[in-house]
Amino acid sequence: MERYKSGVPPTGKLDKLIIATLTDGSMWKCIDVRETIDSTNTFLKRKSDLKCGDVIVAETQTAGRGRRGRTWFSPRGNLYMSVCVNAGKDFEKAPLAGLAMAVAAAETIVSLGIDCNIKWPNDIVINGKKVCGVLSETAVSHENRRFCIVGIGINTEISHFCEEPMHPAVALCDVCGKKFDINKFTADLLIAFEKYLCTANMIEKYKKYCVNIGKTVKIIGSGGEYTAEAVDIGENGNLIIKTKSGYAAINSGEVSVRGVYGYCD
Ligand code: BTN
Repeated sequence: MERYKSGVPPTGKLDKLIIATLTDGSMWKCIDVRETIDSTNTFLKRKSDLKCGDVIVAETQTAGRGRRGRTWFSPRGNLYMSVCVNAGKDFEKAPLAGLAMAVAAAETIVSLGIDCNIKWPNDIVINGKKVCGVLSETAVSHENRRFCIVGIGINTEISHFCEEPMHPAVALCDVCGKKFDINKFTADLLIAFEKYLCTANMIEKYKKYCVNIGKTVKIIGSGGEYTAEAVDIGENGNLIIKTKSGYAAINSGEVSVRGVYGYCD
């Protein structure tokens, strides 16, 4: 773990009122900020009055969760946030919510002057190193409403290798080179996420950021691993691959995707 390697930590302390003011007029009507929480995703999932537009941000998590059952190391200094959005009657909107969050995170990071990409399905990488992960889950409220809980963890100050030892990681403050305000960053991310949730061509924008398209990828599933060419993103967010036996669509819940030489490439 490295702290303040070369950069400047973000300014400000997470503040509910500032984030609410900066997102005034958006769909985010109920913003909660806590110092410590087990997991922001778990917190929303057990909320009895869960509704679309709920947001929880935490300074640290004691039981942060990553994709595929992994732990998400959550030291103080990084950003942990989950939001609740409508998933549709049959959860049909859920697969795209994680992708929309990835596009929103990429755009918000680019607005700091940092070049970044998306590694399918929704890791954000800077020069091949992971800076951000997204965990998208479904939930059903007491009134039987279907929701998608989209959680995002961003290495703002601290890079780490904890959730998977082979992942090279980086923190925003190591590459930013200038001060950025944590409350503005959080609010900008929320506003961008709302925009991409409602943008018809979100997938087109996603593809521009996606580091895998046009490359050979290694696909790791329960039955072993194989290589294929990543050619496109399907309308439901699946990765379309070309193998010797033809085209196939792969689902992020079933496999991990890596570059042939390393994490991305
Ligand atoms: C991944 O494995 O890359 C996804 C990591 C997602 C971590 C975030 S941190 C906020 C939210 N709460 C959690 O417990 N997980 C997500």
